[in-house]
Amino acid sequence: MKNEVRKCICSNVTFEEMKAIAEHNNVASIEELCSFVNVASNCKLCTPYILKMLETGKTRFETDNGFN
Ligand code: FES
Repeated sequence: MKNEVRKCICSNVTFEEMKAIAEHNNVASIEELCSFVNVASNCKLCTPYILKMLETGKTRFETDNGFN
């Protein structure tokens, strides 16, 4: 089954929102982004997606849950 990853679940901030903050503040790294918004500060499962968002501008990521 395919799922879509769209946000940091722990902080309930979407990649779309993070992208807007990153663009508005000329953010180039995840460390810099974290100084503007509290994301990737708990379980950090969102970290690779945030890195990909900063790199490509994508804000939705398809993933497979491995149960089929
Ligand atoms: S999903 Fe982002 S810190 Fe847990």
